[in-house]
Amino acid sequence: MPRVLWTASVAWVNYKYSIGSQRGVTSHMDKIEVSGPNAQQIEFWNGEAGSHWSERDDQMSLMLRPLGAEAIALAAPDTGEAVLDIGCGCGDTTLELAVAVGATGRVVGVDISAPMLVTANAKRAQLPAELDGNCSFELADASSHDFTPAVFDLLFSRFGVMFFADPATAFANMRGALKPGGRLAFMCWGPAEQNDWIMVPMQAAREHLPAPEPAEPRAPGPFAFADTDYVSEFLQAAGFTNIEFEPTQPNMRMGNGSSLDKSVEFFMEMGPVSSGLVNQPDAVRSAVRESVRAAIAGSYVDGYVELQGQCWLVTASNPG
Ligand SMILES: C[S@@+](CC[C@H](N)C(=O)[O-])C[C@H]1O[C@@H](n2cnc3c(N)ncnc32)[C@H](O)[C@@H]1O
Repeated sequence: MPRVLWTASVAWVNYKYSIGSQRGVTSHMDKIEVSGPNAQQIEFWNGEAGSHWSERDDQMSLMLRPLGAEAIALAAPDTGEAVLDIGCGCGDTTLELAVAVGATGRVVGVDISAPMLVTANAKRAQLPAELDGNCSFELADASSHDFTPAVFDLLFSRFGVMFFADPATAFANMRGALKPGGRLAFMCWGPAEQNDWIMVPMQAAREHLPAPEPAEPRAPGPFAFADTDYVSEFLQAAGFTNIEFEPTQPNMRMGNGSSLDKSVEFFMEMGPVSSGLVNQPDAVRSAVRESVRAAIAGSYVDGYVELQGQCWLVTASNPG
C-alpha cells in the first residue's frame, strides 16, 4: 500500500510501498518484472499512481509543461540529435523533444510504468506525420536496462530520475548510452519544505492524520535529490563532469480550471495527501478535505490553485 512517511520535525515527504504477491505487470506494450533493487517503485508506478497519473494526464501536463520548458531550453536539443527521456511517464516531454530534434533526430522515452507508457504511446498520434517515426517508448528500468552503448547525444529527464535505489549505479548505466562528449540535463525538486505546493496541503491534512514515521531523506522519492552535494557526489561517481545546478522557483498551477472544489479533489487524489488517506475512514477524509480547502482557498486564482515550487535544473557532461 502507498504510504506517506513524514519526518517528526519537518516535513519532507517520501513514498514507500510494500511488495505484494504480484510478480509481473503486463500491458499490450510489454512486460516488466516486479523485481530487483527498484521493485517497490516498479510496483508503485504500475499501480494506482500510474493509472491516476494517466487519467489526469491533461492536468499534469498543464502543471508541469512550463517547468519542463525551462529544462528543455537548458538541455538545448538540436536538429538531428538522439535523446533519451528517462522516466518519461506519459510522454509529454518526449513529444516536445521529438519536435525539437526533428525528422532527422530521434527520441526514446524509457519508463517502468506500463499504464503511463500506454498513454504516452497513444499521444504519438499528436505528432506531425513526418515525425512519427522519430519517437518511441520502452518499458524498462533505466538503472539496469541494457542500452546500446554510446548512441545518445542527450540524456534528459523532467522529474523522472529521483526513484533509483542506487543513483550512482543507475547514472553510470545511463551514461553508457551517451556518446563521448554527450550531455545530461534533468529537473528535480529541491527540499520539500521549500515547495509550497506540497507543504501547504500536506500540513493541512496532517492535522487529521496519524503522526508520520521517520524517513530517510535520500530514499527513492520526489525529494531524494534535494541536496546538491549528494547529487554532485553520485554524478561524479557515475563518471560525469561539469556538474552544475541552477535553481528555479516556478509558480505551480494546480486543478482543472473549473472550481476550487475540483482543485481540492486534485490534492485528495494525487500526491502525498492522497497517499496519507489510504485506509482512512470517511470522517477523516471529510475533515482533511475541509482543512485542505481552507488552506488553499487564498491561493485560488482563475480556476487554479497557484503555489510556489523550488527545483534544481541539473546539467553535466560525459567526458569526451
Ligand atoms: C514524477 S513521474 C515524472 C513523469 C514525467 N517525466 C513527467 O514529467 O511527466 C516519475 C516517472 O519516473 C518513472 N520511473 C521511476 N523509476 C524509474 C526507473 N527505474 N526507470 C525508468 N523510469 C522510472 C515513473 O514510472 C514515472 O513515470
